[in-house]
Amino acid sequence: MTKIRAAITGIHGYVPPYILTNQELEKMVDTSDEWIRSRTGIRERHILKGEGLGTSDMGAEAVKGLLEKTGTSPDEIGLLICATVTPDMVFPATANIISNKAGIKNAFSFDMNAACSGLLYAIVTASKFVETLSFKKVIVVGADKMSSITDYTNRETCILFGDAAGAILLEPTTEDIGIMDSILMSDGSGMQYLHMKAGGSVKPPSHDTIEAREHFVFQEGQAVFKFAVTRMADVSAEIMEKNNLTADDISWLVPHQANLRIIDATARRMGVGKDKVMVNIERYGNTTGATIPLCLWEWEKRLKKGDNIILAAFGGGFTWGSIWVKWAYDS
Ligand code: UT7
Repeated sequence: MTKIRAAITGIHGYVPPYILTNQELEKMVDTSDEWIRSRTGIRERHILKGEGLGTSDMGAEAVKGLLEKTGTSPDEIGLLICATVTPDMVFPATANIISNKAGIKNAFSFDMNAACSGLLYAIVTASKFVETLSFKKVIVVGADKMSSITDYTNRETCILFGDAAGAILLEPTTEDIGIMDSILMSDGSGMQYLHMKAGGSVKPPSHDTIEAREHFVFQEGQAVFKFAVTRMADVSAEIMEKNNLTADDISWLVPHQANLRIIDATARRMGVGKDKVMVNIERYGNTTGATIPLCLWEWEKRLKKGDNIILAAFGGGFTWGSIWVKWAYDS
């Protein structure tokens, strides 16, 4: 029987227009452009401004652009998965809201929360619907309004995050291209280092939780850094070894954009030169679910059919993983 794979056949992104620079952050907290750039690689990030606007608005923009550029009718989409940690609301799923805003009526849709690895989890899940359940067109969205859970009085976290969305179209192929292999991992004991303290069922919102500023990202940066460096680098090397891929075989590494030093360590561990690593953290910061699609979107014109691409991520949970993709089209 011919093997059916899921291939990425389109990619689109959305970043809100407002740019929050390091210089502006210098006026808000005790930090400096030099510290932020040398410790993280970030120069600026985009922030979604406007009353009543949330993650779904960015996601819907990315999806509408994707449908238009790939000549796809909303009615053709059978499934939409949204990877996010900043849903519009606890329920319904942001994926449902995005589908409605993008005119997608014949699909079922749901959210996935695996923090910064969410996009990888969503791609692997979506690919299974294509490979084994005969879905013809599936959309994966990675979208986060990180500014909604960022404490702009905390210099340790407010410099890191930005808002954005990306959308990926997956379709079946019988060619030797597409989602070739993946490794996904999680370790819930990492929760203590990276989480949001209140707003869930353990600690519902109250005056006390608001006064204690517990509705924002809490992160022990150094501890997370140590895990991220080893886990993201190891899992990227592991997927290469598992599939007998050498550094020469790799056309591009697409790492989650949390810290330039973590990205560099991952590339070094894989033996991949800097010229093959997609990096745009300088302009967007950490946009959680959106970092990987934003990279693919920006680099799309340089990608060629058959390119071996490794997607790699690490995030809250802890969660981490890597995917080997053979790119499916020339732009
Ligand atoms: O995407 C999800 C996964 N998240 C990550 O992968 C993030 C991983 N962690 C990191 O990227 C880094 O740990 C950070 C960028 C968050 C922090 O960098 P670091 O090199 O680990 O700094 P640090 O936390 O060890 O802090 C060093 C010093 C401290 O001062 P003292 O104690 O040495 O006097 C901090 O108080 O830098 C200070 N500091 C700052 N100084 C200026 C912390 N934040 C700032 C700041 N500006 N914004």
